[in-house]
Amino acid sequence: MINEYVEIANYYDNLLTSGYYNFDYLSNILYNLLGARRKVLDIGVGTGLLTEKMLSLANYKIVGVDFSSRMLETAKKRLAISDVKLICQDMTEFETEEKFEAIVSTGGVIAAVEEEGEYRIYSHITDPEKNKQLLAKLHSQLDDGGLLALAIQGPHNNYKKEIKDEIFYEQKIKKEGNYVDKWYVFSQANGEVLREQFCRFYFFDGRQTTQALIDAGFQQEYQIIDGKFLVTYK
Ligand SMILES: C[S@@+](CC[C@H](N)C(=O)[O-])C[C@H]1O[C@@H](n2cnc3c(N)ncnc32)[C@H](O)[C@@H]1O
Repeated sequence: MINEYVEIANYYDNLLTSGYYNFDYLSNILYNLLGARRKVLDIGVGTGLLTEKMLSLANYKIVGVDFSSRMLETAKKRLAISDVKLICQDMTEFETEEKFEAIVSTGGVIAAVEEEGEYRIYSHITDPEKNKQLLAKLHSQLDDGGLLALAIQGPHNNYKKEIKDEIFYEQKIKKEGNYVDKWYVFSQANGEVLREQFCRFYFFDGRQTTQALIDAGFQQEYQIIDGKFLVTYK
């Protein structure tokens, strides 16, 4: 399935813990932001890197959804001693009676990107209408006073760098309209490619992002917290 992280699952943690995200920092910001909120939904929980750090700070009740069973396998091992609920499902199909006090994402199903002087919602879901439906559903899955917190990434650029264990990571980006194609390539020092993954994102530009959040029912103004999270309230 498109945008399901399968091929690169074995290399994912290496990349993410080689400076891609600082999960200690992000979880601390969330800890301050969430206050007494404990019931959290992580959309696109991946291998559970954020969840692990959040649980080291407070007894959150976390539900993590991801449609990649390969990513969840790693999350299960990482979070074995916790009572995190991991659900293997496409977020567009995830329904629950449960209400959450916070919905979080670090590069998950949807994320925020600061690009060309504005904040944009980037999504692994490539259909704009489905994204609008997802945002409305997320709004409905929040308790009154609940919040949606999307980690902010920098612009998507082409680059190559060495990560851990003498592995090289290269990302290649192609932009067309509101679509961004991204190739993740992992290789050895001699250039031999170990794994590749292709992802396609749809993004809402700055104006569309504000409008999509309002249309979904969120409060008029989103907030930027420490430059790292775009936060909007029910
Ligand atoms: C870049 S990874 C981020 C993982 C994790 N949040 C982290 O910080 O490491 C994106 C994750 O979103 C998942 N994903 C993408 N689209 C999804 C969808 N429609 N439903 C559920 N999971 C999805 C992928 O399988 C992948 O694990």
